[in-house]
Amino acid sequence: MKQYKIAVVGATGMVGRMFLRVLEERKLPASEYFLFASARSAGTTVDFMGKKHTVRELTEDAFKDLGVDIALFSAGGGTSKIFAPIVAASGAVVIDNSSTWRMDPDVPLVVPEVNAHAIPEYKKKGIIANPNCSTIQAMVALKPLAVKYGLKRVVYSTYQAVSGAGMGGYSDLENGLKGEAPKKFPYPIAGNVLPQIDVFLDTGYTKEEQKMIDESRKILELPNLRVTATTVRVPVFHGHSESINVELEQPFEVADIRKLWEGTEGLIVQDDPEKGIYPMPIYAADTDPVYVGRLRRDFSVENGINFWCVADNIRKGAATNAVQIAQELIRQWEA
Ligand code: A2P
Repeated sequence: MKQYKIAVVGATGMVGRMFLRVLEERKLPASEYFLFASARSAGTTVDFMGKKHTVRELTEDAFKDLGVDIALFSAGGGTSKIFAPIVAASGAVVIDNSSTWRMDPDVPLVVPEVNAHAIPEYKKKGIIANPNCSTIQAMVALKPLAVKYGLKRVVYSTYQAVSGAGMGGYSDLENGLKGEAPKKFPYPIAGNVLPQIDVFLDTGYTKEEQKMIDESRKILELPNLRVTATTVRVPVFHGHSESINVELEQPFEVADIRKLWEGTEGLIVQDDPEKGIYPMPIYAADTDPVYVGRLRRDFSVENGINFWCVADNIRKGAATNAVQIAQELIRQWEA
C-alpha cells in the first residue's frame, strides 16, 4: 500500500491536538507528518507518533515541494478561506473543519457513515468539508430513519459543551468556576446556560442554528427537509447533547427503530429507563461513537419520536470525523 504524506494545520489548537491523538490511535498508512500553526507557535515542538515534531508556520509557500497528500485543517474560518485553496493547488486534498467551505456546492460535506459516496466530489476544488459538531452526531442517528421511514420534520434542541468554542471557551468555564469573568463568551457560563452560539442572523436564528439546518439538508440530500434548531451552550467541558424530535413519513414501531439503530455503524443505543440508563456527556467524553437513548413515541403528532443524542464534540464532532474522512479517502484511492 502507498504511504501518504499527511499535514495537520492548527496542530496546537483544541481540535488540532485531538487530530494528533486520533491519528496516533488509527495509524493511517503515512510515511511522514507535517504540523502547522501560526507564527505564534512556529518552532515549538510537539510529541507525536513517538518523536518530537517541530511546528511549522503556515505561509503561502509552506506546502510547496512537500508533496503532501492530505491536509487536515482546524485553524479557524479565516485561515481556511485563504489557505485551503493554496494548499489544494499544491496537490493535497484539504479536509477542513471550519464552516467556510461547507455550503459550497463544489465541496462535499461528509460524515463517513452517512455519505461517503459524496467524497469524490472533492475533485472539483480539492476540499472536503467536515460538518459542524452538532450536525455530525445528529446525522449518524437520523440517516437510517431517513432511509427506512422518510423524514417529515426535525426539531433540534442542543446542549453544547464549552470545548466547542476552542481553548477560549474551555478556559471561560474553568476560570468561571473560580469566579473569574468570561473572556470568550458574552456572559458567564459557570452556573449558567447561554441560548446563543455564534452570532445572530437577521432571521433571529444564530449562525450555529442555521448551520445545523443547512448542513442537515446537504448531508441527507434532502434540500427541502423541514428542520429547525435551538442551540444552547451549557457548562459542560466535553460532549454535546441534543434533544431531537422527528416526524417520520411512515408509521413505525419504537422497537424497530431501536433495532435499526443497534445495527447502525458508529451508533450505540443506551436506552433502559428502568435502570436509569441513557447517554450522558461524562461517559461519551473521549470516546468516538454517537450515543442515543430516551427513545419514545411523540404522541402529539402522527408518526413522531423523541430521542436524546450525545457525542464527544471534539472527537466525533470534529477530529475523529475528519480522520475517518481521510481513512475513507485513502480506501477509495486504493480501491
Ligand atoms: P497558534 O497556536 O499558533 O495560534 P483553537 O481553536 O483551539 O484556539 O486553535 C486554533 C488553531 O489554529 C491553533 O493551532 C492556532 O495556532 C491555529 N491558527 C490560528 N490562526 C492561524 C493562522 N493564521 N495560520 C495558521 N494557524 C493558525
